[in-house]
Amino acid sequence: MNSGNQQKSAHVTTRRLLDMKANGEKISVLTAYDFTTARILDRAGVDVILVGDSASNVFSGHNTTLPITIDEMIYHAKAVVRGVQAETSRAMVVIDMPFMSYQLSSEEALRNAGKIMKEHECDAVKMEGGRIVADTVKRITDVGIPVMGHLGLMPQSIYKYGSYRVRAQEEREAEQLLEDAKLIEQAGAFAIVLEKIPSKLAEEVTAQLTIPTIGIGAGPSCDGQVLVINDILGLNREFRPRFVRRYAELDAIIDGAVRQYVDDVKSGSFPSSDESY
Ligand code: KIV
Repeated sequence: MNSGNQQKSAHVTTRRLLDMKANGEKISVLTAYDFTTARILDRAGVDVILVGDSASNVFSGHNTTLPITIDEMIYHAKAVVRGVQAETSRAMVVIDMPFMSYQLSSEEALRNAGKIMKEHECDAVKMEGGRIVADTVKRITDVGIPVMGHLGLMPQSIYKYGSYRVRAQEEREAEQLLEDAKLIEQAGAFAIVLEKIPSKLAEEVTAQLTIPTIGIGAGPSCDGQVLVINDILGLNREFRPRFVRRYAELDAIIDGAVRQYVDDVKSGSFPSSDESY
């Protein structure tokens, strides 16, 4: 699918993200789950594409991220990597490790991270958790697989917490999160997602780490921002959390287009002679 005249740009690497933080250049991250969207995101210049386990919700319609399997994540990842390769091949592609693919033991986590990395040419894996996964992060990064951490609201633990409310609002939890972030950095992670925590805390974590922080509902001081592509495009009309900025209202646009198509088919105005052979 590569057109041949597509300008290839320097692929975004973990080193590049560190430099961006050092130079004060913000990092743009969006999720994608399929070939077509990945092509558009790479062409538009997004720095990092996250194949999030949010695919479980927004792609497969589950209520949580827990049901998605490692093979389903690999299916999405392969499509996204193909999309990036078909465009400028600039964006870094990070794959979420799904629930229970890294929690049982460091050995199994390493095996699964290796499986994800070997099946296609992605750049890194992401996993949720602080001190509890620090040894696992070290084990995986030691063999050369880059790991992105994820702290604050961790959707894979939703049944433990029982709500999607803002995390680390109390001092003790905030201190713990800061310690966790440092542990994950020491374990070798190249970046950390901070989800739904107070801006002030995100600012402090960002200042104390050398590696970039990528915020989602964590305020403007993070080194980068991540959002779910379906959310910024307005594909789910009911979902309007405060931290999402909508750049399009595709739900309404698609609804209108499909209604028009149905009308045209029913009335016989589609296809016209110009649209026929
Ligand atoms: O799964 C996902 O999309 C994520 C982002 C929201 C950070 O983890």
